[in-house]
Amino acid sequence: MRRSIVSASLLSFDQGALSSAAASMEAAGADWIHLDVMDGVFVPDLTFGAGAAASIRSAVGIPLDAHLMVSRAESLVDRFADAGCDLITVHAETSAHLDRVLQRISDRGVKAGVALNPSTSPSMIEWVLPLLDLVLVMTVNPGCGGQSHLARVAPKIGVVRRMLDSAGKEQAVVSVDGGVDAGNASSLRGMGADVLVAGSFIARSADPRAAVESLR
Ligand code: DX5
Ligand code: ZN
Repeated sequence: MRRSIVSASLLSFDQGALSSAAASMEAAGADWIHLDVMDGVFVPDLTFGAGAAASIRSAVGIPLDAHLMVSRAESLVDRFADAGCDLITVHAETSAHLDRVLQRISDRGVKAGVALNPSTSPSMIEWVLPLLDLVLVMTVNPGCGGQSHLARVAPKIGVVRRMLDSAGKEQAVVSVDGGVDAGNASSLRGMGADVLVAGSFIARSADPRAAVESLR
């Protein structure tokens, strides 16, 4: 089984010190930094914009994995691409023009991802599979860190993996986000997860490096 990518979410860290939190996650061995961007409309809370992403970009050398939990992602793609994000993931539930948004992300030379809320069927992305570099399977209802993992949703990982492979997208990755910890990481990998997004599990740990390693 290939080694998992650990994408550290900053949502459980001091939101006034995101760059140093990102630097500490890089130092702890995280492969990617997961940026949870929230607009207070698609999800109740508000976090940060492309300006913060640009500051984080200058603080770390590892890939920035932007998760746009926003109602109008198409209006933000260029800003987060300009900020230096390596991946931009938008929610399938937010755009009538998902194909166009994903194409815009790729046109900017950024890897394109789509996120699926727990209640959303993978059939929603059937016609955009060729455009995808990543599918983000949410195992919590988006909007805050530290929630309980919805294990009943995890089998969606395998469904998405088979859909990508059938579409010739073996190189696209399946990411899982929400309540990921050392207790469920192995079974999530076994279901086909390539990327494990983790926030509170790492933030709560006395030894972040060991916490990151325990997810692999
Ligand atoms: C939730 C975010 C997740 C969250 C993960 O809306 O998309 O990335 O921060 O945090 P934990 O690992 O604490 O569930
Ligand atoms: Zn996220």
